[in-house]
Amino acid sequence: MPHIPYDSLKAKLKGQRILLVGGAGFIGHNLAMELADMGADVMIADNLMVNSMIENSFNPEQDPIQRQAYLDFLLSRFSILREKGVQLRNCDARILIDLGRVFEEYRPTKVVHLAAIASAVDAKQEPGLCFDLQLITLRNVLELVRPKVDEINQTMFMSSSTVYGDFEGDTVDETTFPRPEGIYANAKFMGERLVRTYRTQYGLGTTVIRPSALYGERCISQRVSQKFIENGLTGKPLLLEGGGDGRLDFTYIKDLVQGQVRALALHESPDDSSTFNITFGNARTIKELADIVKEIVPQTILEERPRAVDKPIRGTLSTERAQKILGFKPEWPLETGYRQYCQWYVDAWEKAKRKANDL
Ligand SMILES: NC(=O)c1ccc[n+]([C@@H]2O[C@H](COP(=O)([O-])OP(=O)(O)OC[C@H]3O[C@@H](n4cnc5c(N)ncnc54)[C@H](O)[C@@H]3O)[C@@H](O)[C@H]2O)c1
Repeated sequence: MPHIPYDSLKAKLKGQRILLVGGAGFIGHNLAMELADMGADVMIADNLMVNSMIENSFNPEQDPIQRQAYLDFLLSRFSILREKGVQLRNCDARILIDLGRVFEEYRPTKVVHLAAIASAVDAKQEPGLCFDLQLITLRNVLELVRPKVDEINQTMFMSSSTVYGDFEGDTVDETTFPRPEGIYANAKFMGERLVRTYRTQYGLGTTVIRPSALYGERCISQRVSQKFIENGLTGKPLLLEGGGDGRLDFTYIKDLVQGQVRALALHESPDDSSTFNITFGNARTIKELADIVKEIVPQTILEERPRAVDKPIRGTLSTERAQKILGFKPEWPLETGYRQYCQWYVDAWEKAKRKANDL
């Protein structure tokens, strides 16, 4: 495996203007922070319509502590971005002319597409919106990059591990044929196909990233890794379907961002376009996740349930290609990454509780 020191990437990112479409979300703001630290210029274009302040403030199902905690998470995203000099434009990427204005103003050299309903469950509830947020926004990005391939050297598309569908063995790699199921995974797969078509037909430099089951500070997407901690903190049981034997390749956001930064810095030309699994690279059970919550929040209640019939079958995404080509080296197993995140959550929740009680 090549050793490519992370710090050496700074020289490659210097002078790059990187536009993150849908970049105010969980992955986007973390990527923006890291790219800014690595010396790149960064702008976010986001209309804040998913997992946002307004949605959060007016959600009737939220209790006051959760609302306060999420507002704190979202506000801290913005303060950190501002402190790091990241610019943000409020722009609906479904509207070509609006996104076009951002492209004209910023003149990016790289574009990362992140806009989506970033949950297969939510996407199933609103298939039309899922299609628009993933694919209309992507169409606009590709159409704006197409006439500018001399200036924009790379378009990165955030796909998903769900494109693989149910795993046949323990591990998949990028040569495994995708068998996506459901609207979210199929829209991701269509997105990948579109991106590759624009590369072969119009010469765009492209990179496709397939992440899996992310967790980390300031996430409000309510995936299992976040829900479990909140349930532990609020006395609700952690439901373990089939005893919690389902497996996911849980990945700490810091590992994903390291991989993305490497893929952005090391991309030389349209010829080195590639698809990368960027995950921790070792699937773990839901029960193992729950055990860590129980250790950090001892009052946590674990409750077993029968396995759902249509539960997706997952496993490990091999990161060998990213290791070989990008020098990617995941650093955060569940024992350190998820523990650190849980600890952070407990503290953040306590702060939110005090604020909510003062109101
Ligand atoms: N988080 C994960 O575990 C995970 C795993 C695999 C893939 N992904 C993919 O990575 C990407 C980012 O995920 P995330 O977790 O940061 O999600 P997120 O919901 O936190 O962020 C998505 C962002 O896209 C923005 N957006 C949506 N529609 C838009 C529009 N029309 N114009 C401008 N902005 C718009 C939202 O406002 C939001 O800020 C998504 O494409 C998601 O499908 C995420």
